[in-house]
Amino acid sequence: MIESTEIVEKMTYNLIDLNRKDYLKNNNLNKNDIKKLVDKAYETQNLAEKELMFLLEQPLRHLGYLLKKADQKREEVFSDEVHLRAIIEFSNYCRQNCYYCGLRKDNQNIERYQLKKEEIIESAESAAKIGYKTVVLQSGEDEYPAQEIAEIIKEIKKRTSMAVTLSLGERDFGAYKLWREAGADRYLLKHETADKKLYYKYHPGMSFENRIESLKYLKNLGYQIGSGVIIGLPGQTKKILAEDLLLLKELDIDMMGAGPFIPHQQTPLKDFRRGTVEMTLKFNSLCRLLMPLVHIPATTALGTIDVQGRQKALKAGANVVMPNVTASSYREKYQIYPDKICISEDAGDCRQCIGSIINSLGRYVSQNAGHSLKI
Ligand code: 5AD
Ligand code: SF4
Ligand code: FES
Repeated sequence: MIESTEIVEKMTYNLIDLNRKDYLKNNNLNKNDIKKLVDKAYETQNLAEKELMFLLEQPLRHLGYLLKKADQKREEVFSDEVHLRAIIEFSNYCRQNCYYCGLRKDNQNIERYQLKKEEIIESAESAAKIGYKTVVLQSGEDEYPAQEIAEIIKEIKKRTSMAVTLSLGERDFGAYKLWREAGADRYLLKHETADKKLYYKYHPGMSFENRIESLKYLKNLGYQIGSGVIIGLPGQTKKILAEDLLLLKELDIDMMGAGPFIPHQQTPLKDFRRGTVEMTLKFNSLCRLLMPLVHIPATTALGTIDVQGRQKALKAGANVVMPNVTASSYREKYQIYPDKICISEDAGDCRQCIGSIINSLGRYVSQNAGHSLKI
């Protein structure tokens, strides 16, 4: 007589076996689909929203092929050259109240600072002296006089041969024009999220339409334009990320930056989970395949949540790093998100550190300005 326990055991084995077979079958199906879609993206630079969603839904451990093809595309376009952009965070004043950001106007817990015109120009000059070919002037949405910014741009252009990138948020269209005429080459203005509902939820008093119009206007003025997103904002879905990718493509951007959301204690989003390395890498690599010529940085935010984050991004389509050259005494006050790396280092330390990271990957630091390949 067969013991009942034996039957149960047998049934359980069969069940496990069946589930395992099903699992393997599904898994292989997914693997074939993944390969087909990645090949399609690699060859045509196009995927439909549903196809992007399917890839974004797969766990990173199944997406080795996606990352590999993104790295291959990066190499075909840029070979092993990595562009550095020196960032000067010259003011942490901000008139906006973005729900995720530590520099938001309502955060009373930070000491605000604003560098003087001459300090900014001198920082830029020292960045040029240590070999940088691009300087990024970054601030919160400060009301720094447009005319003074124009003078800073002119002076940097006069004293160095660096490209000048602005990352100053939304300003009136006249200012964009003035700065372009003063010699600015590029403008970074992330759209943050393509989902209007989410955009309006997290950007009180701001306009999604104006942001997109600004990007288009900047492009018309002859700026090389950069946009990008925060990965893992609360409420963000795979569908929204797919829309982000399609919007970036439609805007015909020259640069794209995506970093994980990192909750900041002095903001309304303090209790939400942070974005993941995995999703950031998936997004970056899809960007590389859909927009082969675009400059993609390995973001500092990714380096903040994972010590190997920037290296991982550089191996998944990224070709740019943006080291900080802000004077050390100001760095801790520019905490968009907490635990930002490079707070106690100075410009020379970061330049060296990044140089070694790039060389350790068998890549080299570019000696040119790294303008958009589209112009
Ligand atoms: N986590 C990650 N990125 C953030 N940013 C702002 N706050 C955060 C945060 N908490 C990014 C936004 C913005 C840039 C200044 O920093 O994308 O454009
Ligand atoms: Fe200001 Fe930019 Fe931070 Fe928004 S994301 S609060 S505009 S610094
Ligand atoms: Fe700043 Fe590594 S880049 S310490």
